[in-house]
Amino acid sequence: MPTSEPMTASIDKSLPSYPVAKLESLKLDVGCGGHCLPDAVGLDMFAFPGVDHVHDVNQAPWPLANNRFEFIRCQHAIEHFANCHVVAREMHRVCKNGALIEFITPHYSSYASWGDPTHVHHFALASIPILFEQAVGASGYEVVANEIKFTGSVTDVFGWLVYKLSPKKYEKHLAWMFPANEIHTTIRVRKSH
Ligand SMILES: C[S@@+](CC[C@H](N)C(=O)[O-])C[C@H]1O[C@@H](n2cnc3c(N)ncnc32)[C@H](O)[C@@H]1O
Repeated sequence: MPTSEPMTASIDKSLPSYPVAKLESLKLDVGCGGHCLPDAVGLDMFAFPGVDHVHDVNQAPWPLANNRFEFIRCQHAIEHFANCHVVAREMHRVCKNGALIEFITPHYSSYASWGDPTHVHHFALASIPILFEQAVGASGYEVVANEIKFTGSVTDVFGWLVYKLSPKKYEKHLAWMFPANEIHTTIRVRKSH
């Protein structure tokens, strides 16, 4: 019988009724805000447009099935999450083996990291790999990419050069003088079945 209702699926009872394309999506956007990745399932503590699950990510379990996603985006969000270890474990749980998790977060030396009073963490280059090691163990993940990004202004050049020679020396001795912008980290989930 024809209907004007949007087509919804009912196979996963934990999910609200949203269009099939979203229901079947293998992508998850954690802390998506009002800018959810197109075709990804959106998870946020507030019901912005595009959010599919309103949930505090510090609370486990997330309302999502095990081994479901192939890709997670977490963009400008992890610095807001008080319990990052719960978040890393839940990301690992909802991912398939081999899934990629992409983080973008302010570097601790940037104004953006400290200017927003809702940020509860300030990250160094090693922070997200260390977080996964602590949360899921060395066999549960692999670092695919881990980089500091600069804004590209002329004053960044000296800091960038030292960073390229030695990330540790840059962070320990120069980051406050020549601040960076963001950290981009990609983690691959490893699961043995
Ligand atoms: C700076 S916004 C980033 C939004 C989006 N990812 C982007 O790049 O435009 C941070 C988002 O994290 C969400 N957030 C903060 N704490 C959260 C929590 N405990 N659980 C779920 N979402 C949270 C906020 O509601 C907000 O939408």
